[in-house]
Amino acid sequence: METAAAFEQVLEIRVRAVDELLDRLLGERIAPGEIARPPRLLAAMRHGVLNGGKRLRPFLVLESAALFGADETAALRVAAALECVHCYSLIHDDLPAMDDDDLRRGQPTVHKAFDEATAILAGDSLLTLAFDIVADESTALAADRRATLVLALARAAGIGGMAGGQALDLQAERTRPDETGIIMLQAMKTGALIRFACEAGAIAAGATPADRERLAEFGSAIGLAFQLADDLLDVTSDAATLGKATGKDEAAGKATLVRLHGAEWARRQLGGLVTQAHELLKPYGSAAASMKAAASFVALRQR
Ligand code: IPE
Ligand code: IPE
Ligand code: MG
Ligand code: MG
Ligand code: MG
Repeated sequence: METAAAFEQVLEIRVRAVDELLDRLLGERIAPGEIARPPRLLAAMRHGVLNGGKRLRPFLVLESAALFGADETAALRVAAALECVHCYSLIHDDLPAMDDDDLRRGQPTVHKAFDEATAILAGDSLLTLAFDIVADESTALAADRRATLVLALARAAGIGGMAGGQALDLQAERTRPDETGIIMLQAMKTGALIRFACEAGAIAAGATPADRERLAEFGSAIGLAFQLADDLLDVTSDAATLGKATGKDEAAGKATLVRLHGAEWARRQLGGLVTQAHELLKPYGSAAASMKAAASFVALRQR
């Protein structure tokens, strides 16, 4: 996988499969044990999910699953579940009480297209749906592996991961943490879900603890790179390219490494994180080519 264009092609194929499954999971038909699916809430969930995300996290789940030979169909469901958690985090991140954004993926945010209460409930329902998807027997993995995935996803999404990181991110608008503090909050708010994406395939395949840990470390490195690139794009890109407002971090007083050290430093740091990520994949040789390309994409991405 030599070029960014080749990577984007592989990503595109993966995206189609993930989008098809998400479309089905967010259908009108109720699952056993459900009573009804309120149409307006379902429409808000679909608006927040089926709207052209890059699907990088699902891609990482699928590639890590392929690396260790996990069941592809099961991995696709885990990938879709993780995307539900990610989309919920974006819906809530955009709420007026948080980043107060009107544009996401080139469309009105869920609270703009619907209303705040519906956006909160769409997020709640997506988070819950994620665990439903992984736990369901349709995710054809041994029950203990499904339970391990549920646990790892819970740890990545909750107070010690994404949600906790979002709390620290908001607090940091006032407390202005130092570099160590910023790295921790970013490892939580963004790194945790990306880390889970990378280790999920190893868990699904029943890989060794050492392999799972190596992939998790890889995920942590590219997770930090991902948020660094996001913060860089906030100052260097524009809304038409990104599909979301730019120039907002400075205005909101967000604690970012780009604000602390500048864009040049951030670009150098990104290079270092990609090298570190590639090193971690060395033992897998060419089998990890797509994962390596994903690491480069994360650092060089323009969207
Ligand atoms: C945006 O994530 C939120 C961050 C963690 C920085 P993405 O850039 O992956 O957003 P989508 O899913 O492609 O819209
Ligand atoms: C978002 O970070 C992290 C999440 C957990 C959603 P940002 O607030 O920087 O993400 P964008 O820029 O709104 O996508
Ligand atoms: Mg935010
Ligand atoms: Mg935001
Ligand atoms: Mg941002």
